Amino acid sequence: MGAMRVLLLAAALLALACSHGATASDPSLLQDFCVADKMSQVRVNGLPCKDPKEVVVEDFFFSGLHVAGNTTNKQGGVVTPVNVAQIGGLNTLGISLVRIDYAPSGLNPPHTHPRSTEILTVIEGCLEVGFVTSNPENKLFTKVLNKGDVFVFPKGLVHYQFNKGAANAVAIAALSSQNPGVITVANAVFGAEPSISGDIIAKAFQVEKNTVESIQAQF
Ligand SMILES: *[C@@H]1O[C@H](CO)[C@@H](O)[C@H](O)[C@H]1NC(C)=O
Repeated sequence: MGAMRVLLLAAALLALACSHGATASDPSLLQDFCVADKMSQVRVNGLPCKDPKEVVVEDFFFSGLHVAGNTTNKQGGVVTPVNVAQIGGLNTLGISLVRIDYAPSGLNPPHTHPRSTEILTVIEGCLEVGFVTSNPENKLFTKVLNKGDVFVFPKGLVHYQFNKGAANAVAIAALSSQNPGVITVANAVFGAEPSISGDIIAKAFQVEKNTVESIQAQF
């Protein structure tokens, strides 16, 4: 009986370990690092590794996140990414960073990161943030954040930040992928290239086709 229990426990632990491995977003490392070789023609899930003998300290370094992004655009918000495209040493490490600048009433519009959870902290100003759960609930979780507050956007969920303050706002966010990806909802639906048929979007949104076309014209 005792041996049977041990066996069952072992089987349960093994199942847990396996399911954890299968759901890890970026692969585990099999070496100290795998600095991206951006010149390689080899295609893998991620980027191939540079020869470790050619790796230099700059492969793990980026400078410039103290510089405010230019928020002069329709949304009044801009994201400065620091992911594997900027730091090759992030390849396979499952993490990256962004700086987000917001003009007064500036918006980081509803979007998702298909490959990552995000943890954000406000460095300057005041943001209204929110995310929406998946179907069928589509429940909105929203909060007003001030300097020093931290908020989490779970992986894959649609989320946004809006600057409620009269001054500029700045946030820093870490993401659980070297390459989180961004799908901005409005751009994907109304700004697809070539366009999704107006009839299809009109039916999806339950509005007139000319309403859809006037939105599509903004992209
Ligand atoms: C910011 O972007 C706007 C619009 O593209 C441009 O006109 C302006 O010169 C930029 N400002 C700076 C400081 O780069």
